[in-house]
Amino acid sequence: MSLDHVKRTFEEAGRRDPLYAVLTDHAQRDRKWDRDAFFETGEREIATVVQYLGTLSTSVARARALDFGCGVGRLTLALSRYFEMVVGVDISSSMVTAAEAFNTQTARVRYIVNDGDDLRQFGDASFDFIYSNLTLQHVPPAAALSYIAEFVRLLRPGGVACFQLCIGPLILPGTWSAFMYKVRREWFRRFWKRLRGRIPYEMHFVARSQVEESVLSAGGRIIDVVDVSKVKNGSNLRFAVSTAA
Ligand SMILES: C[S@@+](CC[C@H](N)C(=O)[O-])C[C@H]1O[C@@H](n2cnc3c(N)ncnc32)[C@H](O)[C@@H]1O
Repeated sequence: MSLDHVKRTFEEAGRRDPLYAVLTDHAQRDRKWDRDAFFETGEREIATVVQYLGTLSTSVARARALDFGCGVGRLTLALSRYFEMVVGVDISSSMVTAAEAFNTQTARVRYIVNDGDDLRQFGDASFDFIYSNLTLQHVPPAAALSYIAEFVRLLRPGGVACFQLCIGPLILPGTWSAFMYKVRREWFRRFWKRLRGRIPYEMHFVARSQVEESVLSAGGRIIDVVDVSKVKNGSNLRFAVSTAA
Protein backbone atom coordinates (compact mmCIF):
# COMPACT_ATOMS: atom_id res chain seq x y z
CA MET A 1 0.00 0.00 0.00
CA SER A 2 1.13 3.54 -0.67
CA LEU A 3 2.38 5.51 2.32
CA ASP A 4 3.10 8.65 0.29
CA HIS A 5 0.75 10.76 2.41
CA VAL A 6 2.49 9.66 5.63
CA LYS A 7 5.89 10.34 4.10
CA ARG A 8 4.85 13.80 2.90
CA THR A 9 3.59 14.70 6.37
CA PHE A 10 6.79 13.70 8.12
CA GLU A 11 9.06 15.20 5.47
CA GLU A 12 7.34 18.51 6.20
CA ALA A 13 7.45 17.93 9.97
CA GLY A 14 11.17 17.18 9.81
CA ARG A 15 11.83 20.42 7.98
CA ARG A 16 9.52 22.68 10.00
CA ASP A 17 10.02 21.71 13.62
CA PRO A 18 11.48 18.19 14.02
CA LEU A 19 11.78 18.05 17.82
CA TYR A 20 8.24 19.26 18.35
CA ALA A 21 7.04 16.81 15.66
CA VAL A 22 8.56 13.98 17.68
CA LEU A 23 7.40 15.08 21.14
CA THR A 24 4.40 17.35 20.83
CA ASP A 25 4.63 19.26 24.09
CA HIS A 26 2.73 22.41 23.14
CA ALA A 27 4.99 24.65 25.24
CA GLN A 28 7.88 23.62 22.96
CA ARG A 29 6.25 24.43 19.63
CA ASP A 30 8.18 26.63 17.12
CA ARG A 31 11.57 25.15 17.82
CA LYS A 32 11.50 25.88 21.55
CA TRP A 33 12.69 22.43 22.66
CA ASP A 34 15.99 22.59 24.50
CA ARG A 35 18.16 19.97 22.78
CA ASP A 36 19.58 18.45 25.97
CA ALA A 37 16.20 18.29 27.69
CA PHE A 38 14.74 16.67 24.60
CA PHE A 39 17.39 13.93 24.35
CA GLU A 40 17.23 13.32 28.11
CA THR A 41 13.62 12.18 27.66
CA GLY A 42 14.98 9.46 25.37
CA GLU A 43 17.66 8.43 27.89
CA ARG A 44 15.03 8.09 30.61
CA GLU A 45 12.65 6.14 28.38
CA ILE A 46 15.27 3.65 27.23
CA ALA A 47 16.69 3.16 30.76
CA THR A 48 13.17 2.13 31.83
CA VAL A 49 12.72 -0.13 28.82
CA VAL A 50 16.07 -1.89 29.38
CA GLN A 51 15.12 -2.43 33.01
CA TYR A 52 11.78 -3.84 31.82
CA LEU A 53 13.58 -6.24 29.43
CA GLY A 54 15.32 -7.70 32.47
CA THR A 55 11.93 -8.69 33.90
CA LEU A 56 10.91 -10.72 30.83
CA SER A 57 11.19 -14.48 30.50
CA THR A 58 13.87 -14.22 27.79
CA SER A 59 17.28 -12.61 27.98
CA VAL A 60 18.01 -10.24 25.12
CA ALA A 61 21.46 -10.22 23.50
CA ARG A 62 23.06 -6.78 23.19
CA ALA A 63 24.49 -6.90 19.67
CA ARG A 64 22.04 -5.29 17.21
CA ALA A 65 18.95 -3.17 17.84
CA LEU A 66 16.48 -1.52 15.48
CA ASP A 67 14.65 1.70 16.32
CA PHE A 68 11.67 1.75 13.99
CA GLY A 69 10.37 5.29 13.33
CA CYS A 70 13.53 6.81 14.77
CA GLY A 71 12.71 10.46 14.05
CA VAL A 72 15.70 12.59 15.06
CA GLY A 73 17.31 9.73 17.01
CA ARG A 74 15.94 10.56 20.47
CA LEU A 75 15.71 6.83 21.32
CA THR A 76 18.34 5.54 18.87
CA LEU A 77 21.14 7.41 20.63
CA ALA A 78 19.91 6.22 24.02
CA LEU A 79 19.78 2.61 22.75
CA SER A 80 23.40 2.87 21.61
CA ARG A 81 24.45 2.95 25.28
CA TYR A 82 23.16 -0.61 25.63
CA PHE A 83 23.62 -2.19 22.17
CA GLU A 84 26.75 -2.54 20.05
CA MET A 85 24.99 -1.31 16.91
CA VAL A 86 21.64 0.44 16.53
CA VAL A 87 19.91 1.05 13.22
CA GLY A 88 17.37 3.87 13.16
CA VAL A 89 14.81 3.60 10.38
CA ASP A 90 12.42 6.32 9.35
CA ILE A 91 10.07 7.07 6.47
CA SER A 92 11.20 10.70 6.38
CA SER A 93 14.53 11.71 4.88
CA SER A 94 14.32 15.13 6.59
CA MET A 95 14.07 13.36 9.97
CA VAL A 96 17.01 11.12 9.08
CA THR A 97 19.08 14.14 8.03
CA ALA A 98 18.28 15.81 11.36
CA ALA A 99 19.12 12.58 13.24
CA GLU A 100 22.50 12.40 11.53
CA ALA A 101 23.23 16.02 12.42
CA PHE A 102 22.29 15.42 16.07
CA ASN A 103 24.63 12.46 16.37
CA THR A 104 27.95 13.95 17.31
CA GLN A 105 28.86 11.32 19.83
CA THR A 106 28.83 7.73 18.55
CA ALA A 107 29.68 5.48 15.61
CA ARG A 108 27.34 2.82 16.98
CA VAL A 109 24.26 4.17 15.19
CA ARG A 110 23.25 4.18 11.55
CA TYR A 111 20.19 5.90 10.09
CA ILE A 112 18.28 4.61 7.09
CA VAL A 113 15.24 5.83 5.16
CA ASN A 114 12.59 3.17 4.51
CA ASP A 115 9.42 4.28 2.79
CA GLY A 116 7.72 1.02 1.90
CA ASP A 117 5.21 -0.88 4.04
CA ASP A 118 7.73 -3.65 4.70
CA LEU A 119 11.34 -3.88 5.88
CA ARG A 120 12.70 -6.00 3.05
CA GLN A 121 16.03 -4.17 3.04
CA PHE A 122 16.88 -6.11 6.24
CA GLY A 123 17.54 -9.84 6.26
CA ASP A 124 15.74 -12.42 8.40
CA ALA A 125 16.94 -12.71 12.00
CA SER A 126 19.09 -9.59 11.88
CA PHE A 127 18.22 -7.90 15.21
CA ASP A 128 18.26 -8.89 18.88
CA PHE A 129 15.96 -6.09 19.90
CA ILE A 130 13.44 -3.94 18.04
CA TYR A 131 11.86 -0.89 19.60
CA SER A 132 9.16 1.35 18.24
CA ASN A 133 7.36 4.12 20.09
CA LEU A 134 5.01 6.87 18.86
CA THR A 135 5.26 5.59 15.30
CA LEU A 136 2.78 2.83 14.43
CA GLN A 137 -0.01 5.10 15.67
CA HIS A 138 0.67 7.38 12.69
CA VAL A 139 0.46 4.59 10.12
CA PRO A 140 -2.75 3.16 8.57
CA PRO A 141 -3.69 -0.18 10.21
CA ALA A 142 -2.82 -2.46 7.26
CA ALA A 143 0.71 -1.06 7.14
CA ALA A 144 1.10 -1.23 10.94
CA LEU A 145 0.18 -4.92 10.84
CA SER A 146 2.59 -5.53 7.99
CA TYR A 147 5.43 -3.90 10.00
CA ILE A 148 4.57 -6.04 13.05
CA ALA A 149 4.93 -9.20 10.97
CA GLU A 150 8.22 -7.82 9.67
CA PHE A 151 9.47 -7.23 13.24
CA VAL A 152 8.96 -10.95 13.93
CA ARG A 153 10.83 -11.89 10.75
CA LEU A 154 13.74 -9.60 11.68
CA LEU A 155 14.15 -10.95 15.22
CA ARG A 156 16.97 -13.35 15.98
CA PRO A 157 15.89 -16.46 17.91
CA GLY A 158 15.10 -15.35 21.45
CA GLY A 159 15.07 -11.68 20.42
CA VAL A 160 12.41 -9.24 21.57
CA ALA A 161 10.38 -6.56 19.80
CA CYS A 162 8.64 -3.91 21.90
CA PHE A 163 6.21 -1.70 20.06
CA GLN A 164 3.51 0.75 21.06
CA LEU A 165 0.15 1.01 19.37
CA CYS A 166 -3.22 2.65 19.90
CA ILE A 167 -5.84 -0.07 20.22
CA GLY A 168 -9.42 0.26 18.98
CA PRO A 169 -12.37 -1.77 17.71
CA LEU A 170 -11.98 -4.31 14.93
CA ILE A 171 -12.77 -2.82 11.51
CA LEU A 172 -12.80 -5.31 8.68
CA PRO A 173 -11.26 -4.23 5.37
CA GLY A 174 -13.71 -3.64 2.52
CA THR A 175 -16.63 -2.71 4.81
CA TRP A 176 -18.53 0.57 5.13
CA SER A 177 -16.87 1.08 8.54
CA ALA A 178 -13.47 0.76 6.89
CA PHE A 179 -14.44 3.39 4.35
CA MET A 180 -15.70 5.75 7.07
CA TYR A 181 -12.54 5.11 9.09
CA LYS A 182 -10.46 6.25 6.12
CA VAL A 183 -12.62 9.34 5.59
CA ARG A 184 -12.38 10.36 9.24
CA ARG A 185 -8.87 9.27 10.17
CA GLU A 186 -7.09 10.20 6.95
CA TRP A 187 -8.89 12.58 4.63
CA PHE A 188 -10.90 14.69 7.09
CA ARG A 189 -8.19 14.85 9.72
CA ARG A 190 -5.58 15.95 7.18
CA PHE A 191 -7.93 18.58 5.77
CA TRP A 192 -8.78 19.90 9.25
CA LYS A 193 -5.15 20.09 10.36
CA ARG A 194 -4.15 21.86 7.14
CA LEU A 195 -6.95 24.37 7.58
CA ARG A 196 -5.48 25.34 10.97
CA GLY A 197 -1.92 25.55 9.62
CA ARG A 198 -0.84 22.40 11.48
CA ILE A 199 1.16 19.43 10.26
CA PRO A 200 -1.48 16.89 9.14
CA TYR A 201 -0.47 13.87 11.27
CA GLU A 202 -2.84 10.99 11.09
CA MET A 203 -3.72 9.05 14.25
CA HIS A 204 -4.66 5.41 13.79
CA PHE A 205 -5.73 2.44 15.86
CA VAL A 206 -5.63 -1.32 15.38
CA ALA A 207 -7.70 -4.04 17.03
CA ARG A 208 -5.82 -6.10 19.58
CA SER A 209 -6.99 -9.33 17.92
CA GLN A 210 -5.36 -8.20 14.67
CA VAL A 211 -2.04 -7.54 16.44
CA GLU A 212 -2.21 -11.00 18.00
CA GLU A 213 -3.00 -12.62 14.64
CA SER A 214 -0.21 -10.75 12.88
CA VAL A 215 2.38 -11.82 15.48
CA LEU A 216 1.20 -15.44 15.55
CA SER A 217 1.02 -15.89 11.80
CA ALA A 218 4.55 -14.50 11.45
CA GLY A 219 5.77 -17.14 13.92
CA GLY A 220 6.17 -14.97 17.02
CA ARG A 221 4.47 -14.91 20.41
CA ILE A 222 3.35 -12.09 22.63
CA ILE A 223 5.16 -12.45 25.95
CA ASP A 224 3.86 -9.33 27.68
CA VAL A 225 1.57 -6.34 27.19
CA VAL A 226 1.88 -3.07 29.13
CA ASP A 227 -0.72 -0.32 29.23
CA VAL A 228 1.26 2.86 28.53
CA SER A 229 -1.81 5.12 28.30
CA LYS A 230 -1.44 8.48 29.98
CA VAL A 231 -5.09 8.29 31.02
CA LYS A 232 -6.88 5.62 33.04
CA ASN A 233 -8.50 2.94 30.87
CA GLY A 234 -6.74 4.34 27.81
CA SER A 235 -5.99 2.35 24.71
CA ASN A 236 -2.28 2.77 24.34
CA LEU A 237 -0.52 -0.57 24.64
CA ARG A 238 3.09 -1.68 24.35
CA PHE A 239 3.51 -5.26 23.20
CA ALA A 240 6.59 -7.38 23.87
CA VAL A 241 6.98 -10.06 21.24
CA SER A 242 9.54 -12.83 21.04
CA THR A 243 10.59 -15.68 18.82
CA ALA A 244 11.59 -19.14 20.02
CA ALA A 245 15.22 -19.28 21.23
C1 LIG B 1 6.24 11.07 16.72
S1 LIG B 1 7.72 10.64 15.88
C2 LIG B 1 8.49 9.56 17.07
C3 LIG B 1 9.98 9.39 16.82
C4 LIG B 1 10.69 8.43 17.78
N1 LIG B 1 10.10 7.11 17.78
C5 LIG B 1 10.70 8.99 19.18
O1 LIG B 1 9.84 8.58 19.98
O2 LIG B 1 11.54 9.84 19.46
C6 LIG B 1 7.15 9.49 14.65
C7 LIG B 1 8.24 9.12 13.66
O3 LIG B 1 7.80 8.00 12.92
C8 LIG B 1 8.18 8.17 11.58
N2 LIG B 1 7.31 7.34 10.76
C9 LIG B 1 6.00 7.52 10.47
N3 LIG B 1 5.56 6.55 9.66
C10 LIG B 1 6.61 5.73 9.44
C11 LIG B 1 6.79 4.54 8.67
N4 LIG B 1 5.79 4.02 7.98
N5 LIG B 1 8.00 3.95 8.66
C12 LIG B 1 9.03 4.49 9.36
N6 LIG B 1 8.93 5.62 10.10
C13 LIG B 1 7.73 6.23 10.14
C14 LIG B 1 8.01 9.67 11.35
O4 LIG B 1 8.73 10.12 10.23
C15 LIG B 1 8.54 10.23 12.65
O5 LIG B 1 9.90 10.47 12.61
